[in-house]
Amino acid sequence: MAGTRMTIYFMGLLLWCCLTKAEYMKYKDPKQPVRVRVKDLLDRMTLDEKIGQMVQIERSVASAEVMKKYFIGSVLSGGGSVPAPQASAEDWINMINEFQNGSLSTRLHIPMIYGIDSVHGNNNVYKATIFPHNIGLGATRDPELVKKIGTATALETRATGIPYAFAPCVAVCRDPRWGRCYESYSEDPQIVQAMTEMVPGLQGDIPANSPKGIPFVAGNKNVAACAKHYVGDGGTTDGINENNTVINWHGLLSIHMPGYYTAIAKGVSTIMVSYSSWNGVKMHANRNLVTGFLKSTLRFRGFVISDWQGIDRITSPPHANYTYSIQAGIQAGIDMVMVPYNYTEFIDGLTSLVKNKIIPIGRIDDAVKRILRVKFAMGLFEYPLADYSLVDQLGSQKHRELAREAVRRSLVLLKNGKSADNPLLPLPKKASKILVAGNHADNLGYQCGGWTIEWQGSSGNNLTLGTTILEAINSTVDSSTNVVYSENPDAEFIKSNYFDYAIVIVGEYPYAETNGDSMNLTIPDPGPTTITNVCGAWKCIVIVISGRPVVIEPYVDSMDALVAAWLPGTEGQGVADVVFGDYGFSGKLPRTWFKTVDQLPMNVGDPHYDPLFPFGFGLTTDPTKITL
Ligand code: BGC
Ligand code: BGC
Repeated sequence: MAGTRMTIYFMGLLLWCCLTKAEYMKYKDPKQPVRVRVKDLLDRMTLDEKIGQMVQIERSVASAEVMKKYFIGSVLSGGGSVPAPQASAEDWINMINEFQNGSLSTRLHIPMIYGIDSVHGNNNVYKATIFPHNIGLGATRDPELVKKIGTATALETRATGIPYAFAPCVAVCRDPRWGRCYESYSEDPQIVQAMTEMVPGLQGDIPANSPKGIPFVAGNKNVAACAKHYVGDGGTTDGINENNTVINWHGLLSIHMPGYYTAIAKGVSTIMVSYSSWNGVKMHANRNLVTGFLKSTLRFRGFVISDWQGIDRITSPPHANYTYSIQAGIQAGIDMVMVPYNYTEFIDGLTSLVKNKIIPIGRIDDAVKRILRVKFAMGLFEYPLADYSLVDQLGSQKHRELAREAVRRSLVLLKNGKSADNPLLPLPKKASKILVAGNHADNLGYQCGGWTIEWQGSSGNNLTLGTTILEAINSTVDSSTNVVYSENPDAEFIKSNYFDYAIVIVGEYPYAETNGDSMNLTIPDPGPTTITNVCGAWKCIVIVISGRPVVIEPYVDSMDALVAAWLPGTEGQGVADVVFGDYGFSGKLPRTWFKTVDQLPMNVGDPHYDPLFPFGFGLTTDPTKITL
C-alpha cells in the first residue's frame, strides 16, 4: 500500500518535473542573456529547422504554409515587390503578419525576419518619404543629418511592419560609369566612413562600452541594418556592375574596407556580400575575406547575407552548377542566402551537402547562431507581430521636412555668373516672366531615380506623393511672377518670347544596377538640346538631376549658373528653397567631376588629376535678407 503510494508520489513528481521543464524554455526567457538563449534554442533544433533559418525567400513565393513547412527564416521584398499597387501600411502589416503567423506555428515558434531595400527612405512603399540618394547625402558632409534620416527611415520601415533594411550601401564608387554610383556616398572612403552614422540612425546607438562586433537594434522603432556590398563593389574595372575589382590588399583595406570597420564598430547587424570579384575571385566564394577577415579578424558577430541569387552567380553562366554554388557560398561563410525563388532546390542541395559531410555541421551551427543572435538581440522573439501603432509615420510631415532639408544641403553650386562679380543666384522671386524648361522639371519619377516604387524607378507624377521642382518653383516665386513651362522649347517659341531668366532642369532617366552602367555618361536627349537652345537665348541656370557626374563641359560656357542636384527624391521644394535664396548653397562635391570620360577612372589624389570641378568643390551663397 505504502509502496504503491510512494510510486504514485514519485511518478507525480517526475511528471511535474517534466511539465515544468517543458514549460520553462531558456530561449523563450528574455531575462536570459542572448548567448544562453541562442545555445538553448540551437540545441533543440533539427537539421531541417537549422537549414530553414538560412533561407530567405521573396514575398511572391511566400505564404504561411511555406513558412511553416520549410521553417523559412526570412522573407524579402525585391525591388518593386509589393502586396498590392499603392498598398497601405496596414496592407503591408497584414501580409507580413500572415507570413509571421506561419513561422510562429512551427514547433519551436522561431519568428522570421522580413527585409526590404529601404535605401533612400522606405522607397518601395507608396506615400513613403523619399530622401535623396546617397550621393546627395555625401554632398551634405553632415553625418548627423544622415543619422536623422536613418531614424526616420527606420520609423517608416517599421510603419509597414518591417524590421530589417538592406542599408546602408557603404560602397566607395571609384568610377561614375558604374550604374550604382548614386548608392555610394563618395569616392572618398573617409566620407563613406563618416556616413555610416546611418547605422545608429537605423538601429539606434549601441550602449557605451559594448563589445565590438555585436549586432544591436535598440527596439521596435528601429530596424536591423545591412552594410553592403562586401567588399569592393565600387571598384570594378571600368565601373562595370558585378565585375572584377583589381586592387592590391593595401588598396582594398584603405579604400573599400573602412566603411565596414566603422559599421561593425557601430553594431551593424548584417552584412551583404557583393556580386563582384576581388582579383578574379567571386566575393560570394571568398572564404578568406568572409570567414577569415570579416568574421575572424574584424570579429563581426551578426549574420552575413548573400545578394539576390548571389550564389548562383558564382558560376558563369549563373546557376550552371547550383550544388557547387551552395557549397562554395556556405563554405565561404555566408549565413543567410537570398535564394529567393527556388527555395526547395536550395534546401535539398544544402541538406545533402551536410548529410554527405561535405559541409560540416559546425558551419551550419555558426550560420544559425548568428541569425538567431540578431533575432534575439532585436527583440523579435518578444515582438514578432507588427501592430498599427506606427502607421502614421509613413510619409509624415516631419519626415518630409527632414528630406527637404537634406535636399537643400545636398545641392552643389558649380557655377554662379559668367563672371564672379556678377552672380545670377539666388534668383529674384519677383520678375515679370520666367521660363522653366527641361524634361526633369515636372517629373517626380525622374527626380527620385531608381529604387523608387519600382526597382528601376519610373517616369511621371503618379507613382507616389511628392513635390516636383516645377511645383516648388510655382509656390516659391512672387504671385506677380509669370512662370511659363515649356519642356523643350523650339526655335519658334524662342523667337517669339522674352524671359527675365530661364531655369533648365535636365538629367538622367532612372535606372538601377547594371541598367545604369554607362560608358559615355552623356545626358540623354533632348537634355543637351534644351540647354543649348535656352541658354543661347536667355540668362539661364541649369539644374542637373543625375546619379553621378555626367558630361557637362561642352555646355558650361553657355550657362550663367549650374547646380548639381543629384537624385533629390520626393521633396522638390528643397531645390526652390535654395535657388530662390531662402537658404544658402552649402553642398560640396562628393565626387570628382571629370571633363571627358576618357579621363576615367579619376579620383582625388590621382597623379593624372585634371577635373572640370575638383572633389570638394562647391560655391556658396548667403540666404537673401528679408527686407521689411
Ligand atoms: C533586384 C531585385 C529585383 C529583381 C527583379 C534583382 O536584381 O535586386 O530587387 O526585384 O532583380 O528581377
Ligand atoms: C541588390 C541588393 C539588394 C537586393 C535585394 C540585389 O540585386 O544588389 O543591393 O539589396 O537585390 O533587392
